[in-house]
Amino acid sequence: MIPPPEEKAELYALSLAQLREVLREESDPLAVMSSVVCILKTNLPHFFWVGFYRVDPQKPDELVVGPYQGTFGCLRIPFGRGVCGLCAARELPVIVPNVNDFEDHIACDSRSASEIVVPVYGGDGKLFAVFDVDATELDAFSDEDCEGLETLMAEIQPKL
Ligand code: SME
Repeated sequence: MIPPPEEKAELYALSLAQLREVLREESDPLAVMSSVVCILKTNLPHFFWVGFYRVDPQKPDELVVGPYQGTFGCLRIPFGRGVCGLCAARELPVIVPNVNDFEDHIACDSRSASEIVVPVYGGDGKLFAVFDVDATELDAFSDEDCEGLETLMAEIQPKL
């Protein structure tokens, strides 16, 4: 089920408030990322797969999965490959209304129909990860999702 725009904005606001509450005294990056994933997967009904692909410090042109919730996510994605790699290479949000129309889409689960990926920056201001969400419905993601996710990622930036 895809919530209407006003409801999406409310659900992101609720998620931000919950996140601020639970992370008030927590700075461990793994705990922070896990909490983001859990809160969003719980609150947003159109989120089928949700999680981080982190820039691998050992291989800075490669993303490695985790934390995430959902069905199996492929482990590594080179910069420039798939929707996640495009977002990482360009450092810009990407919304794909129909993954079948995106030639280089990497299908981890054939039920995923649409996708949004936003860049995630660390406390040093450098790209730390991308945040990926898949939905089983076509055209599930809108400007409200982009804005909501970017706000959440900006909130946790100092802790990453
Ligand atoms: N579809 C992504 C790969 C990751 S999965 O959606 C979990 C992509 O094309 O980058």
